[in-house]
Amino acid sequence: MFTHTIVRTPCPKVCDGITSSPELGKPVYEKALKQHEAYIGALKACGVDVLVLPPMEEYPDSCFVEDVAVVNKKCALITNPGADTRKGEILGIVDALKKFYREDQIGRITAPGTLEGGDVMKCGSTYYVGLSARTNAEGIRQFAAFMGKFGFETVEVPLTHVLHLKTGVNYLENNTMLVSGEFIDKPEFASFDKIVIPEEEAYAANCIWMNGTVIVPEGYEAVLRAVKDAGYPVLTTDTSEFRKIDGGLSCLSLRF
Ligand code: GLY
Repeated sequence: MFTHTIVRTPCPKVCDGITSSPELGKPVYEKALKQHEAYIGALKACGVDVLVLPPMEEYPDSCFVEDVAVVNKKCALITNPGADTRKGEILGIVDALKKFYREDQIGRITAPGTLEGGDVMKCGSTYYVGLSARTNAEGIRQFAAFMGKFGFETVEVPLTHVLHLKTGVNYLENNTMLVSGEFIDKPEFASFDKIVIPEEEAYAANCIWMNGTVIVPEGYEAVLRAVKDAGYPVLTTDTSEFRKIDGGLSCLSLRF
């Protein structure tokens, strides 16, 4: 069960976040702020404390706090984002993590290693880590060495199409995953029960399990139905402004 979450308020430059979908237009700052507040409300409704960090004005993507650290009940690993414009975001997470972890529980990914938390999916005591445009083999090697000290196994998952691992696959506990696209047939996930996402709703593969409830992005009816049919209570929240810059529900928080 999660007890804590950390989020970061979007800054006005959120409009300039990195995107692979410019055709969706730029996020509207005021709307992004409202959606972020609603997201915090959904997290709180799942029984967790939410630490809200202030905007980092120079970093358009800094509301996607999931990418700068990987956290669990035992330890926290500060990452080294693969996107150059995001590297400085890690400066903003150090003090927040020190509120929850001792120095010996905190690690760092260092160059030439790169890793972003969006590429990291925890399933029990195993971490699946995407080898992607943002996370390299050296980053995964450092990740495995650090997490190994705390009893976690690491499995590398090569990605071919998506930005991050969790762009297309997310664990809903109970041996169950939401999968889309290249993840439907990945051998690494062969032993899991799968909820397969239709291509036209691929964005909604990025749902989050929060203490039994699954938070689903608003507006993806097939995914909502499938998750309900699988027996999960659900909450929905609108992430349309974050979608415009390749962000999903998981990207907006650290959960531990
Ligand atoms: N816009 C989110 C990212 O590319 O990291």
